[in-house]
Amino acid sequence: MSAHSHSQSSFAEKPDIASWFRRYSEPLHRNPYPFYSYLLEQEPIRFIEENGFWVISRYEDVNRILKDPTFVREHRNAMPGLYEEPPQQVVNEWKPVNDLLDNWMLLRDAPVHTRLRGLVSPAFTPRAMERLRQNIRNIAEHLADEMAEGNEAELISGFAFPLPVIVIAEMLGVPPEDRELFKGWSHTFARILEGGDQPPDFAGQAIGAAEEISVYFRDLIGEHKKAPKEDMISDLIHAKEQADALTEQELIATCVLLLVAGHETTVNLISNTMLALLDHPEQRALLLNQPKLIASTVEEGLRYEGPVQQTSRLAAADYSIGGQTIKQGQFVTVMLGAANRDPAQFQEPDRFLIERTPNRHLAFATGAHFCLGAPLARMEGEIALSVLMQKFPKMHFKDEYPNWRPNMLFRGLGTMQVQL
Ligand code: HEM
Repeated sequence: MSAHSHSQSSFAEKPDIASWFRRYSEPLHRNPYPFYSYLLEQEPIRFIEENGFWVISRYEDVNRILKDPTFVREHRNAMPGLYEEPPQQVVNEWKPVNDLLDNWMLLRDAPVHTRLRGLVSPAFTPRAMERLRQNIRNIAEHLADEMAEGNEAELISGFAFPLPVIVIAEMLGVPPEDRELFKGWSHTFARILEGGDQPPDFAGQAIGAAEEISVYFRDLIGEHKKAPKEDMISDLIHAKEQADALTEQELIATCVLLLVAGHETTVNLISNTMLALLDHPEQRALLLNQPKLIASTVEEGLRYEGPVQQTSRLAAADYSIGGQTIKQGQFVTVMLGAANRDPAQFQEPDRFLIERTPNRHLAFATGAHFCLGAPLARMEGEIALSVLMQKFPKMHFKDEYPNWRPNMLFRGLGTMQVQL
């Protein structure tokens, strides 16, 4: 085992589950897998009184909950007639944020979810993806050539981050030179989604970011209306004008969702999988020998060190599971990252095996909200890792331990220094 491998030590004492979910802590989250293994073995269905939600970790249970229409996203659907709106002052203050989140398909149920998803999905079909393939390869090769000018590089800022960001910006039709702006906004939204205890100044930052990004897209949509182009913003405007299928606010929110999804996930797929390959030299040698294994390598990267570790739902009725009852209106956190290490589903779950079959991981979730961007993420992951393998077959870590970005929901490295 190399210095970067996760030790699979188990907990001597009961871990403090409530504090795990309250606030990100570097020592706790550096290696979450012993904690997951504790949950899977000892407390697979656990209600945390302090935080007021259930934590579900076994594959079978997570899979079942995500597919079951009893579990919803919207309070008003979980508790029809009973849900109380927050005080008006809070509603007003958070309006810029909620105008966006309330229009994200990710956080809606049918019928709004179905309509919004239907409007965006043509852009993500396998056929639509194939048309992007060569362009993605060109971008990846260009970034790799730039890195190759030195003996060492920082893989996140030099490659893993810019690749998906350039791709989603081009797909949407936003100018790539505004990249630094999106980065800040997108990281703020990643923290809004994370929940938990945030520092007191975070509210101002979140509301400010929501206001700015909304103005940004309103202007950009205005420009696209005057001069339509071949991009998603123009397609969505067309859908809005033809069938009146989308409100202006939904259009803005959808652009923001795609931008955030494009920023916070695929970067982690590329770098987390590269980290696993560097940590497992025999698996890397196998991939170098058999480049055809790239697709299953990406799947194993998604399973082993998934970019999205958890998601949540609300129970719309009392629900029995494993001898316990989740009550109507209660919050449920499903641990995708733990389910993907469940020994009942995966043989030797803590090993990184690029030939693993079957590999029905839940990294993209399942059910109605199954990741819409999955075909894009998979293609970007395959191209990115192939290019890195080809150009830098001897890549290795510089000595420092790669640091994880402080977010409980999204698992990804802040920096990754490598020798080329
Ligand atoms: C490896 C990269 C990615 C991972 C691991 C990932 C993961 C996920 C997960 C777990 C969900 C479902 C959340 C839930 O059910 O609560 C989701 C939904 C979604 N993802 Fe991704 N995602 C990735 C990349 C992308 C990309 C590149 C895009 C688009 C640019 C994207 C767009 C979306 C959208 C629009 C949804 C909402 C779908 C719905 O509510 O019906 N994702 N993603």
